Amino acid sequence: MRRITSPDLMQQLALRWKREKVGQRARIALVPTMGALHEGHAELIRQARKQAAHVIVSLYVNPTQFGPKEDLSRYPRPLDADAALCRRLGVDVLFNPANLYAPDHSTWVTEEAASLGRCGGSRPGHFRGVATVVTKLFALTQPDLAFFGLKDAQQLSVIERVVRDLALPVRIVPVEIVRDRDGLALSSRNRYLTPAERNRALALPLLLQAAVVQPAPAAWFRTHITRLPGLTLDYVEAVDGRLCAAIRVGKTRLIDNLPLLSPAPRKRAKRVKQGVRSRRLA
Ligand code: PAF
Repeated sequence: MRRITSPDLMQQLALRWKREKVGQRARIALVPTMGALHEGHAELIRQARKQAAHVIVSLYVNPTQFGPKEDLSRYPRPLDADAALCRRLGVDVLFNPANLYAPDHSTWVTEEAASLGRCGGSRPGHFRGVATVVTKLFALTQPDLAFFGLKDAQQLSVIERVVRDLALPVRIVPVEIVRDRDGLALSSRNRYLTPAERNRALALPLLLQAAVVQPAPAAWFRTHITRLPGLTLDYVEAVDGRLCAAIRVGKTRLIDNLPLLSPAPRKRAKRVKQGVRSRRLA
């Protein structure tokens, strides 16, 4: 595995790979990360490894997606462990730039629909930072495929919009959420939780799971989560067939989501099946 810190060198190498490209096997895959890698990232990397000849993992704690009161300075940076994991998983290049912004950087990618509300509402400027850095990472690594986790469902929608609206030549591959045995979705921020906070945080996946089968899932989730001590609800919303929620446990903000399975669509599905059956009988 090569470790590249220079953006120019990264781009030269990616462009060289592009020129040498022969058929499907030479595809370039990018897994963009901010490091503190866990099994969720490992799954993105494994999927990338299966689908491309060249796998690049970018590791850059992007300052422009953090608000002034957020955890940029304390964000975990276990670089050696991250590099070891990438090496074990057969990554070709770990792209770990020190900085991606000129001192007078003045160009931003702003998505103006998918980024509204939810995390965009509680973290102003967050998705502008994400969209800008991901667009820049695409320019530097020239990927055919880029892998993003479904845990950050809104981030995924924003990136898909940016790619579509700016006609960027990359296919976005969503990857399912990876959970710990107890159900907590893996996140680099889980390591901030004390054992007691982690226990309390389990209410997030448990209540989401119970809520997705209710007739009014978001209202049900809100009622139940607000009864629990030590947790603060940031938002809960049903969007694009998923119930998405963010909570705070102590100083840590956690997000998660699950596909909706509300009784209404299930009844409709049953009626559709019955319709098919009766048409077949007729
Ligand atoms: O999901 C993340 O880790 C970050 O938002 C990303 C996509 C690497 C951009 O900094």
